[in-house]
Amino acid sequence: MAFIKVTPSPLRTLVVLALILSHARADPDPLQDYCIADIRNQSPYSVNGAPCINPNSACISHFTTSALSRRGNTKANQFGFNVTLTNTANLPGLNTMGLTMARIDMAGNGLVPPHSHPRASEVTICLEGVIGVGFVDTSYRLFTQILRPGESFVFPKGLIHYLYNYDLKNPALAISGLSSQNPGAQIASVAAFMSKPWIPDEVLGKAFQITGQDIAKIRKNLGG
Ligand SMILES: *[C@@H]1O[C@H](CO)[C@@H](O)[C@H](O)[C@H]1NC(C)=O
Repeated sequence: MAFIKVTPSPLRTLVVLALILSHARADPDPLQDYCIADIRNQSPYSVNGAPCINPNSACISHFTTSALSRRGNTKANQFGFNVTLTNTANLPGLNTMGLTMARIDMAGNGLVPPHSHPRASEVTICLEGVIGVGFVDTSYRLFTQILRPGESFVFPKGLIHYLYNYDLKNPALAISGLSSQNPGAQIASVAAFMSKPWIPDEVLGKAFQITGQDIAKIRKNLGG
């Protein structure tokens, strides 16, 4: 491939920026009013979202759910949190709309550990308790806030963020809206230490400046 020498220019910066942004766009816009997810259809084709049922069969129950009305089990993990999501099974009318809702339950002193959503920005509202939230931007600056009931916070797409219940005894509750039907989530500590197969010890040792013993201890603490 020929090497073309280019000098930086405002136009070029703009083009590069546009290219980067075009890779970070939201879910595609639907081409119909709604596309009720046909969750029984085992289509061999890959579509962006689930295939739709016949729109004539759409009914009110496809657009409503009580999936977020129940408290999640915060004892299911060592961090003391549980996230309940809307999806094509419990809210089939949301299919192709580029949205997800999440109910976040935290036990007293519970933590949603630092994690990121590769495909979604998130806006969260505290409904119960006192929740410390924060995210780190790509220059490693931390933005943090304490939320009380009724107060909201936004986590930019792809950036590492957390929610922590400062109350040692009482549970906390937050509801989030996410800008993708499939936000995805990666918990930073789990991705680093609990991947399958494991990231080689040499890599983690250098990255975190720790020994093989430290790595083994962290893995054990994380339930590995
Ligand atoms: C939330 O609770 C359910 C039911 O106990 C459990 O299956 C699920 O793994 C929990 N989620 C997390 C993130 O711990």
